[in-house]
Amino acid sequence: MNRKSPHRRAVDIAERVLRQNWMEGERDGIRYGYTQPSPSRYPWQWYWDSCFAAIVWRRFDRERSRAELESLLAAQRPNGFIGHTIFWDRSVSLTRLPFYNVTSRSSFQTETIQPPLLAWAWRIAVGDPAKEPRIAAQADWLAANRDLDGDGLLWIVQPDESGLDASPKFDPIWGRRANGRIGFPCLVRRNRQLGFDARRVRDHGGPVVCEVLVNTMWSLSLQALGRPSSTGAMVERLWDERRGVFLDEAQPGAVRPGVLTWAALAPLALPDLPEEIGRRLVEEHLLNEREFLTPVAPPSVAASEPSYEPGGGRRLPRRYWRGPTWVNSAWLVWLGLQRLGYEEEAMRLANGLIGAVEREGLREYYDPRTGAGLGAKDFAWSALIAELADPRTPPGGYL
Ligand code: GLC
Repeated sequence: MNRKSPHRRAVDIAERVLRQNWMEGERDGIRYGYTQPSPSRYPWQWYWDSCFAAIVWRRFDRERSRAELESLLAAQRPNGFIGHTIFWDRSVSLTRLPFYNVTSRSSFQTETIQPPLLAWAWRIAVGDPAKEPRIAAQADWLAANRDLDGDGLLWIVQPDESGLDASPKFDPIWGRRANGRIGFPCLVRRNRQLGFDARRVRDHGGPVVCEVLVNTMWSLSLQALGRPSSTGAMVERLWDERRGVFLDEAQPGAVRPGVLTWAALAPLALPDLPEEIGRRLVEEHLLNEREFLTPVAPPSVAASEPSYEPGGGRRLPRRYWRGPTWVNSAWLVWLGLQRLGYEEEAMRLANGLIGAVEREGLREYYDPRTGAGLGAKDFAWSALIAELADPRTPPGGYL
């Protein structure tokens, strides 16, 4: 069989799902167009899903990349804020209301953020983000409202702001109020009362978290905008020299929960990560069979963790990010493998997922041992498989 064909087929599957999930319309005279993360499960526009979809759309239809990101900008408030979920054509359903960070059921968008990769996605898929003042305005909002310590790093007020909703790394911080747990609606209610204002949340006892993935995306966006990188500040605050991983910091108490998840390796995506740190992340963790080197890698939680649930977890309500492999994570660490010259290992990681996609289609996440597809079907950001199957460095590189 032609060795290239599985790769080609993966790209075809990606294109089919993106086209099928495309949604467009008009609301109050504003035109919008975006890729539904999954038509049956996630019909609205999600901030970071859109950034990933836009990155892949550049291969098939560049206008769609722009339209997708322009729709995020069309939802922007005058102060620069852009929410985590935008309800263009229908309000949040009654059953999901207690879990969504809205002020009321008729809200147009949530009051919380998601990992801020808009400027970076724009750089990859559209052009120079510094030429789009609305992108700079969102960065200004984040710096003014979420850089709580003035060192250039951002803080979040809920686990789902990281995009990694129910990751076990948040259990020691939020306990019964973590995503997917019984007390989560209480956390949403409390933060709603505090206007989802990070300073007020901190001043009311927190917790607030300086989270690794959010800050990785933030540093990429700052660099895409031509602003000073925050990678140095991340290393200073979040790098754990003894364990050789990045770990979150929670306040109050400067707590550093040690649960090992793929987010600890996410800074591999940073082109300015010091090389010796990148090599430790790869050699001690990513390529370690006891942790992240599974047939379909990387699992969202290290296999060595007691909370590792590779089959996706059977308990209800569903709890995400507790073991299965997600394509966006794979792509982000793969960027680091490539940059650091681990070509064979990068290819092995790509092939594991390409095989799973070929067999199972674009699923939300995959069993890291067998590649069995789990979660939502026709999941848009899994189209990032095209980045692994047919690597095409954007003109000018990723930054
Ligand atoms: C889940 C994921 C989140 C994603 C959303 C839509 O909540 O945890 O990261 O943005 O689904 O796909």
